[in-house]
Amino acid sequence: MVDYKSLGLVNTREMFKRAINGGYAIPAFNFNNMEQLQAIIKASSELKSPVILQVSKGARNYANQTLLRYMAQGAVEYAKELGCKHPEIVLHLDHGDSFELCKSCIDFGFSSVMIDGSALPYDENVALTKKVVEYAHQFDVTVEGELGVLAGVEDDVVAEKSHYTKPEEVIDFVTKTGVDSLAISIGTSHGAYKFTPEQCTRDPKTGILVPPPLAFDVLDAIMKKLPGFPIVLHGSSSVPQEYVKMINEHGGKLPDAVGIPEEQLRKAAKSAVCKINIDSDSRLAFTAAVRKVFDEKPGEFDPRKYCGPARDLMTELYEHKIKEVLGSDNKLAQLD
Ligand code: G3H
Ligand code: 13P
Ligand code: ZN
Repeated sequence: MVDYKSLGLVNTREMFKRAINGGYAIPAFNFNNMEQLQAIIKASSELKSPVILQVSKGARNYANQTLLRYMAQGAVEYAKELGCKHPEIVLHLDHGDSFELCKSCIDFGFSSVMIDGSALPYDENVALTKKVVEYAHQFDVTVEGELGVLAGVEDDVVAEKSHYTKPEEVIDFVTKTGVDSLAISIGTSHGAYKFTPEQCTRDPKTGILVPPPLAFDVLDAIMKKLPGFPIVLHGSSSVPQEYVKMINEHGGKLPDAVGIPEEQLRKAAKSAVCKINIDSDSRLAFTAAVRKVFDEKPGEFDPRKYCGPARDLMTELYEHKIKEVLGSDNKLAQLD
């Protein structure tokens, strides 16, 4: 059993309380490799932002769980080296799909886990989530549950409210399970294609797709049922068009990729939404930078010469998210 506190990590409880009261959201950035982690830590440390490092089941398989844990531990030391004396870094399992996976992460030094039972029938979701909470809380590990199915282009009934989180279920779910935060579905979705062109309008000047708004009425109804309770938004990449353009100009093919407009995320961050998940935007920045180098310097074969620019672009992206979208800069409990 590895105690996350001995690694210098923290759980989400206090940072969520402060985020709700302060009207901002904590960035939850996925990582699979060193460059992503360096960029996340550089951006969050320099801007004095709390940060959640997310590891998906796929990332764990890709990078190896032992390595990831030591990387997170190293991240705490790196943040200090960058002048952030009291970093607040969470190591979080993203989309845990079984009790066994959540337990293994908790035993292995994660400070927070998500159990995603959202695809299960309601009662099974409750039972599974409760089981994870009971285990996690023994070690002061915080747990995120999920209610509602994220919309997506793979789901052709995406616009139907039946896929959104049902506000009438949230009190029962939170009470029965004891979760520390709740991921909800209000129209966001995973990946770089969040809406079909048919669901969007097209800007006549630029030809860029303009997506439909998030269901803020559903968020409001949930917040009324659960005043002050931490809400999480998954699928919150904005799919910056400058990266899509860069990718397409340098041999890539991402036609009509579209994300969640930043002003909608800004609005959400000011509410009880206190954790915003971003993965795809970092993938796009990484890919755009690497494609550019490969296209412009076909003789280049030193990975530092293309992973370095990718890291720089991701750092810029994370800084932008923290400062201009989530508002979590200068929000560490101890700023000195
Ligand atoms: O929510 C999904 C995250 O973007 C992680 O994706 O399972 O491909 O690592 P992944
Ligand atoms: P994006 O694909 O929009 O970045 O969402 C990431 C996410 O929700 C991770 O859990
Ligand atoms: Zn997600």
